Amino acid sequence: MTLATMNLTPRVGTEIKADAKALLSGSAAAEIRALLEQRGVLIVRNIGLEDAQQLALAKALGTVRFGTVRKETQDGNVTVDKESEDGIFKVTFDKTQNPMYAEYLLGTFCWHMDGTFEDVPPLASILTPRVLSPTGGQTEFANTYAAYEDLPESEKTFLDGLEVVHTMEANYREVVPNPTVDQLSDWRTYPQKTHPLVWHHRSGRKSLVLSSSSTQVVGMDLKESDALLRRLKVWATQAKYVYQHQWKMGDLLMWDNTGTMHRVLRYDLECGRRLHRVTLIGEESLAAA
Ligand code: OGA
Ligand code: MN
Repeated sequence: MTLATMNLTPRVGTEIKADAKALLSGSAAAEIRALLEQRGVLIVRNIGLEDAQQLALAKALGTVRFGTVRKETQDGNVTVDKESEDGIFKVTFDKTQNPMYAEYLLGTFCWHMDGTFEDVPPLASILTPRVLSPTGGQTEFANTYAAYEDLPESEKTFLDGLEVVHTMEANYREVVPNPTVDQLSDWRTYPQKTHPLVWHHRSGRKSLVLSSSSTQVVGMDLKESDALLRRLKVWATQAKYVYQHQWKMGDLLMWDNTGTMHRVLRYDLECGRRLHRVTLIGEESLAAA
């Protein structure tokens, strides 16, 4: 099957013109997966999928994550949280809809990759809007393959082999500058991970691994490390690598979590904005070889 597509910017984002029947049939799955990797984010307007259809699309593309989050305290106790029972995670600050995870969404306002506290971060996620915000709430995606590919060769050589420590605490540095003791101890239940700064994907392509969770380059002076991570984030989020999605009811949006960063622009936490997300389990480890 060949999908009708239109690139939204030269380096990131493609709109697909298709109806639900064509997308859910599964016959376009291989093409969608390839496009996701090439374009970072794919959207379909006016498709209006319901939860069951969103799940069916996800199943055609990969393995749906039923939201199990494994947490481990510093002293080695392991607990398991269920983000969602049915595969639909409600992205909203409305606690009647999202009682357990609303507060974690504060982290979505900063550029991030999902799941950097795991060795195998999610492959992709699929979002559909249920309640829009009257202002703000646009979701932005930055293509970290393109950002890597454009670096000068000397910089690529310098970055290759560097490793970065990621923590949950770091995610909230900007949005919760004065955390409570409870917040801090909760964030510390998430494992701290060391990931390569450059992801060598199985395909042979490389991308930058940057996220609000990045705290320090291993073995580098803290000031130098801060400056390097800041410089790379500014580089990777230049307008030419970014697609900004202005939500309309009926939209479908999918992004490749392994080759992009994303964030949402500020919106009123009380406005009831709600997106439904289905996440696909990662297929490739980030763990440094
Ligand atoms: C997410 C996320 C952004 C948004 O669901 O992982 O970062 O627009 N969402 O709410
Ligand atoms: Mn996210």
